[in-house]
Amino acid sequence: MCDCGEPRWGWGHCAPSPMLLLSLLLSAAPFGLLGEKTRQVSLEVIPSWLGSPQNLLHIRAVGTNSTLHYVWSSLGPPAVVLMATNTPHSTLSVNWSLLLSPEPDGGLMVLPKDSIQFSSAVVFTRLLEFDSTNMSDVAAKPPGKPYLPYSLADFSWNNISDSLDPTTLSATFRGHPIHDPSRAFANGSLAFRVQAFSRTSRPTQPPRLLHTADTCQLEVALVGASPRGNHSLFGLEVATLGQGPDCPSMQKQHSIDDEYAPAVFQLDQLLWGSPPSGFVQWRPVAFSQKQGSRESALPCQASLLHPTLAYPLPQSPIVRAFFGSQNNFCAFNLTFGASTGPGYWDQHYLSWSMLLGVGPPPVDALSPLVLGIMAVALGAPGLMLLGGGLVLLLRHKQHSEYSSIN
Ligand SMILES: *[C@@H]1O[C@H](CO)[C@@H](O)[C@H](O)[C@H]1NC(C)=O
Ligand SMILES: *[C@@H]1O[C@H](CO)[C@@H](O)[C@H](O)[C@H]1NC(C)=O
Ligand SMILES: *[C@@H]1O[C@H](CO)[C@@H](O)[C@H](O)[C@H]1NC(C)=O
Ligand SMILES: *[C@@H]1O[C@H](CO)[C@@H](O)[C@H](O)[C@H]1NC(C)=O
Ligand SMILES: *[C@@H]1O[C@H](CO)[C@@H](O)[C@H](O)[C@H]1NC(C)=O
Ligand SMILES: *[C@@H]1O[C@H](CO)[C@@H](O)[C@H](O)[C@H]1NC(C)=O
Ligand SMILES: *[C@@H]1O[C@H](CO)[C@@H](O)[C@H](O)[C@H]1NC(C)=O
Repeated sequence: MCDCGEPRWGWGHCAPSPMLLLSLLLSAAPFGLLGEKTRQVSLEVIPSWLGSPQNLLHIRAVGTNSTLHYVWSSLGPPAVVLMATNTPHSTLSVNWSLLLSPEPDGGLMVLPKDSIQFSSAVVFTRLLEFDSTNMSDVAAKPPGKPYLPYSLADFSWNNISDSLDPTTLSATFRGHPIHDPSRAFANGSLAFRVQAFSRTSRPTQPPRLLHTADTCQLEVALVGASPRGNHSLFGLEVATLGQGPDCPSMQKQHSIDDEYAPAVFQLDQLLWGSPPSGFVQWRPVAFSQKQGSRESALPCQASLLHPTLAYPLPQSPIVRAFFGSQNNFCAFNLTFGASTGPGYWDQHYLSWSMLLGVGPPPVDALSPLVLGIMAVALGAPGLMLLGGGLVLLLRHKQHSEYSSIN
């Protein structure tokens, strides 16, 4: 565990406890030996025969004896349906006339049906905005007075074919509200950049989430939109389908290693089932500049997951088309930033990333730098040094407690 107390991200002054250090030493080593796993990944825009762009992006990732399908769409609120099958030959079937009808059930299928091992969906229902003026409590929920949220079902989106890039396996949904009386989005947009991967790696941009061929990355960016207040914090409402009657579980993992995401010692994840059959994973950090850095890092807070029977959410036709009129949705809110520190107000820029995948989530091995330090520390003289270091650390702690009394 982290000695951070309440704020759940570790900004700089968060020292890992010796217990965590030891347990990581014992548990982290084998993960460094995970083998390569690759998939044949293709991206395809499935056109409708109806003039207006009804974006439907199909990511197909074929392995030796399995195929993963990710279907992203901005039909209704932006959403993704993920399906994992146990054959390299499964295919996606889309019936546009059903999909665009008021009863889209059956408009999206994966065949053969009995090859499906896991399926779920994530829907981005609303863009939230809060007035954080006078909010001194960082952990307050909500983080300020809510403005009327933007329903993402009422956005218009670009033609996704124009941003499809087969070399980076990525595509971007870029949208703005259809009705925008205050012209807040006159120069702005909300973008969902989707990227798939054929092998295990790590992007160059923070938070540098470790991805595998079983995952997709989503980067959400709000750029250039006029906030409604001087201290607006933004957020996203996210809905997901539960497995059975229960909501997916939300988990926080701590690490002593922040080499890839400076000063962020935590990984948040949402897990479907146990052992996990699918997951959403993110670092609790967002950025207020395109070049994500420690200086532009904002905390990202996730609320608890609630079943959504209590209030209506914008419906996603693709989710309905695949799952029928199932209604065991669970929702949570993500909020980005705090009333002090860097914020959207600096450059009218905000970005946040997550990974979505099938199977157990990727586990960050300790970075080579930290492993190197540990290898040295594990030598016999090193062990003595480590012991001595701990004593010094504890002494230093006591000492600083004394000085704080002075
Ligand atoms: C979207 O863009 C593609 C490629 O530029 C084009 O072929 C297609 O007709 C466009 N679709 C619509 C509905 O404009
Ligand atoms: C899939 O292939 C891997 C090796 O490529 C094998 O270990 C595994 O048992 C196979 N799974 C099934 C369900 O056939
Ligand atoms: C799509 O669904 C409609 C309504 O069920 C059906 O009449 C039509 O034949 C289907 N189209 C295809 C290509 O399967
Ligand atoms: C913030 O606090 C000041 C002083 O207490 C008050 O005058 C102002 O109206 C408050 N602003 C908001 C948005 O609540
Ligand atoms: C949009 O940008 C133009 C040119 O940069 C500027 O003149 C205009 O005031 C901006 N509109 C809004 C609503 O920010
Ligand atoms: C926002 O800031 C400007 C300039 O600092 C100030 O004139 C204005 O009253 C502020 N608006 C609100 C709602 O606090
Ligand atoms: C998210 O925040 C909005 C605005 O405060 C609120 O109306 C909504 O109920 C919240 N949703 C969840 C799932 O907590």
